[in-house]
Amino acid sequence: MEPNMMINLAAGAIFGAIAAYVLVLALREAHGVSVTARTAELEQSLLNRRIDDLLERGRLEREREQFSWSGWRKFEVMERVEEGGDICSFYLSPHDKRPLPPYLPGQFLTFNLKLPGSSSPVVRCYSLSDAPHQEKYRISVKRQAPPRDESRADIRKSSSNWLHDNARVGDILDVKAPAGHFYLDPAQRKPVVLIGGGVGITPVLSMLNTLLERNSEQEIWFFYGVRCGREHIMKDHLKRLALQHPNARLRVCYSDPEDGDIEGEHFQHGGRVGVDLFRDLLPSNNYDFLFCGPPPMMKSLYEGLLDWGVPDERIHFEAFGPASIKRIGQTKQVDEVNEATEGFTITFARSDKALTWDGKADSLLDLAEANGIPMEAGCRAGNCGTCITAIKAGTSRHTIIPSAAAEPGTCLACCSVPTSDLTLEA
Ligand SMILES: Cc1cc2nc3c(=O)[nH]c(=O)nc-3n(C[C@H](O)[C@H](O)[C@H](O)COP(=O)(O)OP(=O)(O)OC[C@H]3O[C@@H](n4cnc5c(N)ncnc54)[C@H](O)[C@@H]3O)c2cc1C
Ligand code: FES
Repeated sequence: MEPNMMINLAAGAIFGAIAAYVLVLALREAHGVSVTARTAELEQSLLNRRIDDLLERGRLEREREQFSWSGWRKFEVMERVEEGGDICSFYLSPHDKRPLPPYLPGQFLTFNLKLPGSSSPVVRCYSLSDAPHQEKYRISVKRQAPPRDESRADIRKSSSNWLHDNARVGDILDVKAPAGHFYLDPAQRKPVVLIGGGVGITPVLSMLNTLLERNSEQEIWFFYGVRCGREHIMKDHLKRLALQHPNARLRVCYSDPEDGDIEGEHFQHGGRVGVDLFRDLLPSNNYDFLFCGPPPMMKSLYEGLLDWGVPDERIHFEAFGPASIKRIGQTKQVDEVNEATEGFTITFARSDKALTWDGKADSLLDLAEANGIPMEAGCRAGNCGTCITAIKAGTSRHTIIPSAAAEPGTCLACCSVPTSDLTLEA
């Protein structure tokens, strides 16, 4: 939604709330219904809170619009913190010292890293892992382990390894403004369940920190799944939050505890985070569920929540790579498109190759790579914009709602399929 539109909506909502309140009072008086002082006080305080929330939302929108930037901006590494579990947090401040736009908790930054020995920059996204603060951002990066079948020579293309081994305090990094559709609106006060698996804790931790820094009184459940104590990061921080905020219920699950990991002290549940646990602990399924984690965990959560009767629109998630879950409506749509598009000819103009789309590849990027056609890519999930490709003729569609913008006449190849014969500038 455009920021101006958000501000107008917020202003409209405030006037609407006041008008509704005045109307209720007038009707009560007209019908002789007495308004006890206590009820009026409660209604007034609810109204005040709602107005404060909406004003706050408007202020944040204005600041986002005022301080955001387009393209790459230079950021300095101010601090590194080894969190354990092969995760390192980096605190970043803008080199130009201008204020930072506030972001929505759950959003991510995109980095353009010039890694030694790599011919083109490596573009990767990292979620902001703390509540928004004015002068610095924080990301928390897990070191990527080498794939079993690849030699360590390829490590030079790995941004996480480079950040861990080389990014030092004082170094400058190129960063795009916060983006992403997976976020929690801090002005809403509905009960939420936040779930992080492994390093997927980062966006939901940002949500938790934001809600609790605002002293939100809403019911919050926070589930964090890791293998064992060695992977459990931010232990003290999470413990402190649980003690300070009785409305936030934190539950840590170890799927494979080690000697010295003590149930009841270091973690609350043995086993994986899953819907069976929610059914045991939550009083109902009437929550918004937001989660991020490894693909198998996300798939089982999504399917389990649907099975439990949670409406699709109350389930929100983000994958740290190509989309591994197809929403119920989406599966049908994509199948229909794949059926309809089989047989289209995809011409890669610069590479002088023409291929037939058989509906088996997940995206135009996959098709190109499987046939040795070079295409730039970063996140492979519609977030970073690296794979943007000009369409010279024909049409395509995105299979997800991408976070990166694609102007008319272009597509994000990592999440696009053809809807006609297509000629791409690649
Ligand atoms: C929206 C979004 C948010 C994200 N947020 C986070 C976050 O908060 N924290 C986080 O940690 N990640 C996050 N990610 C994932 C992150 O963007 C990267 O995908 C992840 O860090 C892996 O990237 P990489 O370049 O290190 O490795 P890859 O892209 O997996 O690998 C690059 C190349 O290096 C090779 N390679 C990798 N590691 C090794 C190694 N050790 N030895 C030899 N070769 C190797 C690979 O085979 C490959 O050829 C997020 C992703 C998205 C899309
Ligand atoms: S590779 Fe990032 S948007 Fe396609």
